[in-house]
Order: sequence, then C-alpha cells, then structure tokens
Amino acid sequence: MTRDDGMLQSRTATPWWQRAIIYQVYPRSFQDSDGDGLGDLKGIATRLDHLVGLGVDAVWLSPVYPSPMADFGYDVADYCGIDPRFGTLADFDALTTAIHARGLKLILDFVPNHSSDQHPWFLESRSSRTNPKRDWYIWRDPAPGGGPPNNWLSHFGGGAWEWDAHTGQYYLHSFLAAQPDLNWRNPDLRTAMYDVLHFWLERGVDGFRVDVVWLLIKDDQFRDNPPNPAYREGQTSRDKLLSIYDSDRPETQGIIQEMRAILDSFAGDRLLIGEIYLPVDRLVAYYGRDLKGAQMPFNFQLINAPWHAAGIAKIIDDYETALPEGAWPNWVLSNHDQSRIGSRIGQAQARVAATLLLTLRGTPTIYYGEEIGMVDVPIPPDRVQDPAEKNQPGLGLGRDPERTPMPWDASVQGGFTTGTPWLPLGPDHATVNVAAQRVDAGSILALYKRLIALRRSHPALIDGAIALVKAQSAVLTYERRHGSERIAVLLNLGHDEQRVAIDDGSVLLSTHLDRADERVAGEVVLHPDEALLIRLSR
Ligand code: GLC
Ligand code: MG
Repeated sequence: MTRDDGMLQSRTATPWWQRAIIYQVYPRSFQDSDGDGLGDLKGIATRLDHLVGLGVDAVWLSPVYPSPMADFGYDVADYCGIDPRFGTLADFDALTTAIHARGLKLILDFVPNHSSDQHPWFLESRSSRTNPKRDWYIWRDPAPGGGPPNNWLSHFGGGAWEWDAHTGQYYLHSFLAAQPDLNWRNPDLRTAMYDVLHFWLERGVDGFRVDVVWLLIKDDQFRDNPPNPAYREGQTSRDKLLSIYDSDRPETQGIIQEMRAILDSFAGDRLLIGEIYLPVDRLVAYYGRDLKGAQMPFNFQLINAPWHAAGIAKIIDDYETALPEGAWPNWVLSNHDQSRIGSRIGQAQARVAATLLLTLRGTPTIYYGEEIGMVDVPIPPDRVQDPAEKNQPGLGLGRDPERTPMPWDASVQGGFTTGTPWLPLGPDHATVNVAAQRVDAGSILALYKRLIALRRSHPALIDGAIALVKAQSAVLTYERRHGSERIAVLLNLGHDEQRVAIDDGSVLLSTHLDRADERVAGEVVLHPDEALLIRLSR
C-alpha cells in the first residue's frame, strides 16, 4: 500500500501539509518490538500499514532523543541521537525510509526551550561561572534580600528557579528542575540549536513540531509576573500569576523566523508547527510577519471548549476571523498532554468530534488511538509515571491516562508488547482494539476511514470555503463549498433527536454509518449523538 500524492509538488503548488492529515505517535506507547514494555522505532515501522489504511499523510513522533526520561523525552540529553530504548540512528533512518516509501511524511518533535540537566551543555554550564557555556542557560544571582531572583513559577508546580550551591546562582526551569531553560539570547546557543535542525533536515525529516515555542524568550529585565485576579482555588499553582514576562515575548518571533528560514532552505515544503497555548488573538501572531513564522501554530481551541453548539460555532468564527490573510488553519482535538476526547465528552460524542475535526477547514491532527475510540485509562497510584501528577497529585494534571499503550488486538497485552507495558492497557481493550474494529463495519475506526476517504475525494472538504456556521439548539451546522459543490455538515452535540431544515441533497455519511445515499428534502432528522454529511443538490 502506498500513496504518493503531494510528494512531487513544487513550492508554487499547494504545499503537501495543507492537504495532509497529521497523526501523532507517542513512541513509548505505539508498538514495542523487543519486549521491554516500551514502544520503539522498530515497532512503529511494523505498524505503518495501519496508518496507510487509515489514510493519514504525516507522522509526528513525540521525542525519541537520548533522555533520562524525567519528562518522558521532553528532557533531551543529546539533540542529535536516538535513545537506546527507542533504537538507534540506523533504526531511525530505516523508519524514515519506510515512512517515505509509503508516501507518508515524518515530523519530529523539537524541544528547544530546555534540555535535560544531564545534557553535556548543562553539565559544562553548571561547572563554573566562567565556563564558555555558562550563558547557554539562564543563571541569575539571588534577589537582593536572598531567595530566588523573581516570582516566576514552573509549569509543573513550585518555583521556576533552582539554587546551585556549587556556583552560588539560580538557574531557570520553566518545567522540572531536571529541565533547565536554554538561553535563546545567546548567539552560540542559537547556532548550536540551528545545527540540530540541519542535522535532522539533512536526514530527510519533513518538519518539526516545536515544543512550547511561545516560552522561548524571557523578559530581559526578569520582572516579576503580576498576580492573576481570576485565580481560583483548585487551579494549578502557576495560575496564581499572569505569565506576562516569561512567555509570548516579542523577541520570540525573530527566532521562529530564523527556524522557518532554515526549513525553507531545504526542498520539499518542510513544515514548522508550533505548540502554542494562547488565546486566538495572540496565537495567530505566530504565523509571523508576511507568514514567515510557523506554517501551523497549533490551534488548541477545541481542547478546552465547552461541548455545546453555540460555543463551538463561536470558536470556529473567531478563529476564521482572526486568521491573517493567506494563513492556513489547523485543528487539534487531543494530544499527549490532554485528556482524550472520549473521556472529555463521552464515547458517543467522540464520533461527532471526529466528524468535526475532519470536516473543518484546515489541517487536522489526530492523536494515536482516537481512531479506535481509546479513552483515558485510570492509573493506580503505584503505577503513576508522570511528574505532573507526582508533583501536584489529585488535581487531575497527570497525563498517564492518555498515554497508555495502543491496543492492536484482544490478546493480554493487546499486541503492544510481549513484556510488561510501562503503563497498563485500558480495561476495554478486548473491544477497543485495531483488529476487532478493522472487521466491524460500524466501528469508530470504520468511521475515521470513511471520513478521511471522503475528505480525499471531495475538494470542498479540503480546499473549500467554510460558510454558514450556525448553532440551532444542540446542533452545529456549516457548509463546505468548492466550485459548484456544497457539502452540509450537521453535528448533533446532544443526546436527543433533532430536526434541521436543509436544502435538498443526499447523505454522504452518518456517524452511525447506516444512512449513506438517503435522500433528504427540506428537513432531516438527526438521531441522538449523530453527525451527517449531506451533499446538497446544485
Ligand atoms: C510540552 C509537551 C509536554 C512537556 C512540556 C515540557 O508542553 O507537550 O509533554 O511536558 O512541553 O517539555
Ligand atoms: Mg521496546
């Protein structure tokens, strides 16, 4: 099975990533090949047929670099290697070749805001105040009266400064103390990190998802963040302050432009994705001046969206309105940091959400396992892995539940491993697994495949405009239009039957996969938890 559309397009044609569906693989949990209970690169290579069968176009791998795994790979100890738990550089090259041979693209995670405290750069930096790499990290003297230099807080709880007794200064860590922040104001550090981009681009990767890119630059005067007047009990400690001086600083844009220029110096429309949790008006700034920033600042607006029609209609309208001229939209429902969609809104609505994701205007990103309806897996306290849970237990911050192994079949460990998986599989994996759903014409996997196939065969769903975004009680509706083609999307976000007035047409798809080709005229009945795609007559 191969698909090579888009491979040979020149830069003047639509770039591949505007027609693509991106699929996020969390490598620890996708497929183990050596029985150590951890997914690995060789494992991923054996599962590419699933991705081709599903119909996605690009694979984004969460970090596979050497790491002490304090934050499961988001603490990088060598930017140009592969952690032995995941395999070798040769395995990486083989996987890249296999991915490309199937007409797929490969996107790597790039983690520039911080390294591991075990990275040789940091070991040097902390060795003395005069070490040439001292300034590659963010070192400050104590405040005049003693204590940390300012009030900045870590995303993982507690303060963002760690005291180093050996050299008598604090270093900044926006995440764990084991993840010291790199100093992007230092030109040598910048060059070293740009060399990393070159290293992987030359090896053939098609793009990067850049971790916490809106945090890269910090206030040059290290001013205190002001208190957040909206803070409520039960929120994380970081919510106590407004992140004015340690995030979204104007100088960040220049760095993103430099990264983009490096990608653009390679053939093949290499893609720069930014991980950015900001309100829409700030998010769209990351397309950059003249669209020379990230091609895809990740749009997470659906992640915390209250699941009702009016709210989502507003999200779509606000986002479409905020997009700069020529900017290409994108949508994300779930990722390795967020509760899975089926747990957020219920499994019945997960099908409606899939329809939304795959029919909105813009590039969708699918998180592994959502195509088979995986939900969060409860993790017994003695099996908790994630530092976010360990540091602030009980607030629901732990990310293990959405990172559990992919169930490929109904066997004891779901075909994921022959050993003991690092996190437990879901209790439902006898039915929520790829093999069972592949032969079930009504499964959510069948729905995903059908939606993706429809996207591919109807230009309205990719290149088309989006129009008439409306909420009518629990129903969200919009149209996608291209040339004379009009496809109406009707999503029942509730559990009751709904009647919707509609022009004449015929059903292309129901989320229940049972109404194809049904004629509609003037009105259509939406079943509970059902979404419909209707091709309207001209
Ligand atoms: C990003 C990653 C998250 C990680 C954090 C620190 O938000 O998605 O998993 O913990 O950055 O690198
Ligand atoms: Mg393994």
